[in-house]
Amino acid sequence: MHLKRLGPYFRRYAWVLIGATAALVLTRVLDALVPLLMKTGIDSLADPEIAPNVAWPALAIAGLVLARFGIFVVARRIMRRVAISVTYDLRKRIFGHVQYQGAAFFHRFSTGDLMSRAVNDIGMVRMVVSFAWVNLITFVFTIAAGLYFMIGLSPTLTLFVVLPVPVVAVTGFLLARQMFPNFRNRQEALADVTSFTQENLNGIRTIQAMAQEDHEIERFRDVCSQYARMAYRAMRSMALVTMVLPFLSALSPIIILVYGGFLVLEGEMTLGTFTAFFAYAAMVAAPITMVGMSLSMFTAAAAGTERIFEVLDYEPEIVDSPSGEIPDTIAGRVEIKGLTFSYPGTTRPAIDDVSITVAPGETIALLGRVGCGKSTLLHAIVRLVDTPRGSIFIDGIDICDYPLQRLRHAATLVPQDPFLFSATIAQNLAYDDPSRDVSLLWDAAEAGGLAATIREFPDGMETVVGERGMTLSGGQKQRATLARGLVRNAPILLLDDCFSSVDTETEERILSGLARLREGRTTLLISHRVSTARHADRIYVLDDGHVRESGSHEELLALGGYYAALEAVQSDQERDRARKMRLLNDLDVDVAKAVGS
Ligand SMILES: Nc1ncnc2c1ncn2[C@@H]1O[C@H](COP(=O)(O)OP(=O)(O)O)[C@@H](O)[C@H]1O
Ligand SMILES: [Mg+2]
Repeated sequence: MHLKRLGPYFRRYAWVLIGATAALVLTRVLDALVPLLMKTGIDSLADPEIAPNVAWPALAIAGLVLARFGIFVVARRIMRRVAISVTYDLRKRIFGHVQYQGAAFFHRFSTGDLMSRAVNDIGMVRMVVSFAWVNLITFVFTIAAGLYFMIGLSPTLTLFVVLPVPVVAVTGFLLARQMFPNFRNRQEALADVTSFTQENLNGIRTIQAMAQEDHEIERFRDVCSQYARMAYRAMRSMALVTMVLPFLSALSPIIILVYGGFLVLEGEMTLGTFTAFFAYAAMVAAPITMVGMSLSMFTAAAAGTERIFEVLDYEPEIVDSPSGEIPDTIAGRVEIKGLTFSYPGTTRPAIDDVSITVAPGETIALLGRVGCGKSTLLHAIVRLVDTPRGSIFIDGIDICDYPLQRLRHAATLVPQDPFLFSATIAQNLAYDDPSRDVSLLWDAAEAGGLAATIREFPDGMETVVGERGMTLSGGQKQRATLARGLVRNAPILLLDDCFSSVDTETEERILSGLARLREGRTTLLISHRVSTARHADRIYVLDDGHVRESGSHEELLALGGYYAALEAVQSDQERDRARKMRLLNDLDVDVAKAVGS
């Protein structure tokens, strides 16, 4: 059963749980004493031989009920606390586990699905400890205590009364088994609702821009009705349990009335015992009505546990296997030796036998069409994709021998799609080390070409950029992420097309500043502009995963290949753009004249 896997999480609280369970059992025993006291009272009334005595039993019953109530409240509170602690541990574990996962993991689990597992499925586990476990103990020990005292009173009548119990147990077990797939489907459908909502909110601007709101509402309705169908199915299988079990337990009073009544008439049983049996039957029947509910909770928790462990069982693809001696300071030599890499599930390699050597302090540009493997190459250097051992070396040491943390400190990647946290600009720039001096942040912002923009904001560095950096333009976001990379001052800087939304003049300015700032340190940058690449010591043109051309700007122009053709097209565009700018300026002058006169 899937719930078994939760064992280690409960072991920490084993003694507390045992204590609370024992307390619950005690409440059952106290409960079971009540009918005995009733019997004493009633018999004293019915039997002329015994002096009537109801005061003492009544007082004792009151005392018992009070004690039982107190103990029960405390025990249940403890159970709930354990439930909260266990779910806290589970959530922490899941969150920590997700942090280290690679691309394949996030391909398998969508964000919404993960959120649903971490919130809804863990919630099911909490419910089981808080409620269902308490109910189950109550159920089992009520029956046990009831049986014990009933056998003491009349073994034969007990036998008849408990006849339905095995039937109830077996039926309950079978019903729980048929409930499981329904609950699993229900939780999956709920995850679909979460995923859908999450993706919708992420893409809300695209949806609105394309006027697809109605279509989205339609799709949401489909996802929701699927969930409703699944929830209904789960509820129906639960309703079956909640109906069938009490129905079976309703047989007991009939048996008591007929057979017990016969025994009383025969003089083989006192009226007090007869009444006590009724009280016991009622006592046993009460938790049976709850059993259906508890069983369904257990089933839901089992389904939830299965889904939680699907995540926890997923081994991170990229694991630390540091073995080599890592020098304290990294000079910044990057060697890629015959690297071939295919994404899992694809047949064509994204990188095909690429060899590149970058000496410390060099700046290298990678150029090429969309999809030729540029990003993949930079990702490989920081092991965001898992490349084979023996293909990439930093300072002569295989990157697989670096602890991941060290590797990613030595080489800082500024990714292609800029991401900012919903925090202030300062917090975003100093993300990896909040204790950094603000002057360092300004230096990085200056170098990244963002300083002027920040000064324009009324709150400066303290400006909060909304969720996903909503308040910044695309180019501003790119420059912010560039500055965040620069502030780390790493020996190796990997820039993945960070100038695509920045105009050529700004780019030129940033690059010349960068050249000064990164003096003596290694930089690999991706660009689709010749004007960016020309500043590099060497340029590699990638095509379909291969290096097609390489050399300096002049060498590549002389070669007359792809790079030369690209240069011709782009400088044409430059000239064209410059001409347009001039025309616009002239227009401004003309307009100013017209307004002035
Ligand atoms: N996570 C991924 N899974 C499968 N294929 C991918 C993945 N990322 C990129 N690719 C494929 O690998 C190739 C190279 O992609 P990429 O390195 O991003 O290109 P570039 O950065 O040059 O535009 C492309 O054909 C792309 O479709
Ligand atoms: Mg790319």
